[in-house]
Amino acid sequence: MLETLLTINSPDMNLLDKIQPFYVMQLLNRAKALEQAGADVVHMEIGEPDFPTPPLVVNAGIEFLSKGEVKYTPAAGLSALREAIARFYAERYNVEVPVSRIFVTPGASGAVLLALAGLLERGGEVLLSDPGYPCYPNFVRLLGGEPRLVPVGVETNFQLDAEILRRHWTAKAQGVVMASPSNPTGTMADGATLREIAEFLDAHGGFWLSDEIYHGLVYGEPARSALEFSDRAFVVNSFSKYFGMTGWRLGWAVVPEAFIVLAERLAQNLFLSAPTHSQMAALAAFSPDNLAELERRRREFETRRDFLLRELPGLGFGIPVPPQGAFYIYADCSRLTDDSFKLAWRLLEEAHVAITPGKDFGLNEQQHHLRFAYTASLGRLTEGLRRIREFAPVIKTGASQSQDVPFQPDDQNFNILGEA
Ligand SMILES: Cc1ncc(COP(=O)(O)O)c(C=O)c1O
Repeated sequence: MLETLLTINSPDMNLLDKIQPFYVMQLLNRAKALEQAGADVVHMEIGEPDFPTPPLVVNAGIEFLSKGEVKYTPAAGLSALREAIARFYAERYNVEVPVSRIFVTPGASGAVLLALAGLLERGGEVLLSDPGYPCYPNFVRLLGGEPRLVPVGVETNFQLDAEILRRHWTAKAQGVVMASPSNPTGTMADGATLREIAEFLDAHGGFWLSDEIYHGLVYGEPARSALEFSDRAFVVNSFSKYFGMTGWRLGWAVVPEAFIVLAERLAQNLFLSAPTHSQMAALAAFSPDNLAELERRRREFETRRDFLLRELPGLGFGIPVPPQGAFYIYADCSRLTDDSFKLAWRLLEEAHVAITPGKDFGLNEQQHHLRFAYTASLGRLTEGLRRIREFAPVIKTGASQSQDVPFQPDDQNFNILGEA
């Protein structure tokens, strides 16, 4: 009996190999342990806004919860919320989206799962940018597909474009998942690029899953939605980032007309419904007063981004493409190290600054990149950079505690291991 239970409970080793952990979680756990031991850690690794959920949204949630009637909603979500999302597309993007195509989900994560669960065939390839958001390849593998990581760089703003898709498209290719602005680079694909991607995928019958979770958090030209260019696109978005509601677990998918019936069945089976109180709270998210508050927050993120863009190069970090959105800077640390993972650990252990190593975002030059998240106040970011500046001589010598070698950011010949 016990043996049978053990067999049932033992994890599928294949799946364990296929699903990668978030390396940053180890780092975060260590940061928490350091904090428990009394250390003051500057957090620049966290991919969620430091601002609390806006009060109007919280109050709407509390008012609903106080009635105690927290029951399932229809699988596709509350009609009022789906209608509010449809209005949002009309106002922000000038795109008419029928409410029937909108599915409210548990976060963008639920929306990506819903879309890929309905789209992927066994062995089908999905093209993904490298660097990119680490859950995509894991979802694709989980659902029996093959992630095809395509290196992207400065030339294309760290985004996929039609030419890259052409070069990497194979007979097994089924579609593309991309995020603009991107995690981890914060860079965006412009309207012309999105139009060409839409045309390429129409011509090849490929699906297009456009993750627009960082829309709203942009610092130049507004982000364009895939829905402006294609009726076949699957768009996912979320209340997590721009709306500041990470823990409420609420997002949405806009699916093509032909996918509505399948999406409905999948939503019923996968989730039953997204959290009801979160949906009720989110109804307040689109009010003009709340949007004004979100605009204040966006401006604060912009100030922080500009600060890091100004200061990081002086510490030896390269930023070849200034990010236009999200709250990340994917900094090139090749002048400091050939092992960004090790550098991230040393910065945490020795300077008490937490930064996410490139290893979390793919294979392409990951050893030369760190992702700075500006999800901390300007004061904390300033303190973080002060510590990195102090730590820099240690990086240069490879020593553990030495402070006596002045840091020279223009020196090309050093790395974290102290090797010339
Ligand atoms: C690009 C991207 N997509 C999706 C998600 C998941 O977000 P959610 O909280 O809406 O599930 C994240 C979270 O960091 C992300 O960066």
